[in-house]
Amino acid sequence: MRLDKFICKSTELTRTEAKKLLKKGMVRVNGEVIKDPSTQVHENNAITLDNGASEQMLSARSSRYIMMHKPAETICSNVDEVYPSLLHYIDLDKAFDLHIAGRLDADTTGLVLITDDGRWSHNIISPKKDCPKTYRVQLRDEITNDKQDALITQFSQGIQLQGEKDLTKPAILKIITSNEALLTITEGKYHQVKRMFAAVGNKVVGLHRQQIGSIKLDEKLSAGQWRFLTDDEIQSI
Ligand code: URA
Repeated sequence: MRLDKFICKSTELTRTEAKKLLKKGMVRVNGEVIKDPSTQVHENNAITLDNGASEQMLSARSSRYIMMHKPAETICSNVDEVYPSLLHYIDLDKAFDLHIAGRLDADTTGLVLITDDGRWSHNIISPKKDCPKTYRVQLRDEITNDKQDALITQFSQGIQLQGEKDLTKPAILKIITSNEALLTITEGKYHQVKRMFAAVGNKVVGLHRQQIGSIKLDEKLSAGQWRFLTDDEIQSI
């Protein structure tokens, strides 16, 4: 982790304040004054902050892991755009230092995992990790009984999305009613679920993520609410 980030994680300081202290030569790593904020450090380094009167040993706050029930008309970004960032719902110190592991569209609701542990979120986001995500999908057009088996097969064999070279990876489609389905995918291409149904001539009119890996959206959370993940949930990723 960068030295300026480490200082932020172990104090109440902002990134700008941390950089100022570094510039003034107030931070030592293993006894040596370090001024470059991009210096890579890890937990085993002895990092101290000298405020003139005393020297304080810094230890980084442990990482935070959160699940949130994303409401519609919020965005999975750290900056507000047309809609506000969903990080505004997290009433924690330095909430905007967290990031969202796997974005949802502004109109999509449901499970979002939020953390400041980049290695952990990589296991969710990286296409190489094949982490399954399950969506409940409301459809404009009915999938009549006679078309269901063919569609399930088509999704399992891969769908050709507009503008993409390769087929989508095998996806599991379960029809719940003629207008509602559960779709599990292991990728996170831009608007993937909407584009998969568009490619077969249908239209997604409602989308809700209910599971990532083995982590299910907690039914006790209503839209806009969040809770910390349990140790088992964290380890499951
Ligand atoms: N696929 C989409 O089309 N939208 C989402 O928000 C998530 C997956």
